[in-house]
Amino acid sequence: MTEARPSHPELTEAARAFRASLPGPFPEHIAIIMDGNGRWAEARGWMRVRGHKEGTGSVREITTAAAELGVKSLTLYAFSRENWKRPDFEVTTLMRLLRLYLRRERRTLMDNGIRLSAIGRLEDLPGFAQRALEDTRRLTENNGGMVLRLALSYGGRTEIADAARGLGRDIAAGKVNPDDVNEETLRSYLYDPETPDPDLVIRTAGEMRLSNFLLWQASYAELFVTDVCWPEFKRSELHQAIRAFADRKRKFGGLPASSPGTDTVSDSGVAGLRALPSPHAS
Ligand code: FPP
Repeated sequence: MTEARPSHPELTEAARAFRASLPGPFPEHIAIIMDGNGRWAEARGWMRVRGHKEGTGSVREITTAAAELGVKSLTLYAFSRENWKRPDFEVTTLMRLLRLYLRRERRTLMDNGIRLSAIGRLEDLPGFAQRALEDTRRLTENNGGMVLRLALSYGGRTEIADAARGLGRDIAAGKVNPDDVNEETLRSYLYDPETPDPDLVIRTAGEMRLSNFLLWQASYAELFVTDVCWPEFKRSELHQAIRAFADRKRKFGGLPASSPGTDTVSDSGVAGLRALPSPHAS
């Protein structure tokens, strides 16, 4: 096992050139709904689980490519709470693939200074997957580069319900005054309140929905949907999504900064609100 723990890996020449070529801002946090593994395999007459196996290769390539470009956080929807309803064989295969990935990719994570974390009802995972997750999390915890967050046994509504329960307990215990509860209070009870909201949510395999992914955090994310299935989503597809993001005008419910009159509303306080929703507001 390598000992290298780069804190802020240098951008390669190619990464710098790519970023410089973008027409607008770069997404600091990218979240991906990795869909279409089953369809990709079935279209080739293979078992669905073969699609998941091939999808693991895309996880490796996209994680490395994102880290090389200087993405700060990458969140991958690896297993939803709804996925438990799939046949036992498919669920077991996915859990084994997760363990295999976590063991085999430790060197890649270390070499790229990536810190692994996870969100979701992690206690639902089989013991062997929880142990592999915890071992890799501990091994990478001092890395200072990109954070790779795996959403596992994750559901956006469950996350909000879990947050409400935690908040309710603290209100009942007298630690929080209900009159003081605002958006930031509730956010602080989410699974990973420190990570800023995703700027860009990518979905592969063409469906135009969020499927219970980061419902709170994705409120102002830009969506990019591609027909490409996850096993074929590689570096060039990631670049295409980032380029599309850089071309968008983000308004967060206000007006683009360049619009006429946007600097004449300071007496209403609206200008102050405009900066509020995201630390990455452009
Ligand atoms: C959706 O495809 C994908 C999943 C349910 C799981 C994603 C898992 C991996 C990419 C591999 C393991 C993960 C890691 C992090 C190593 P689908 O089966 O719903 O596709 P379909 O809509 O075509 O049926």
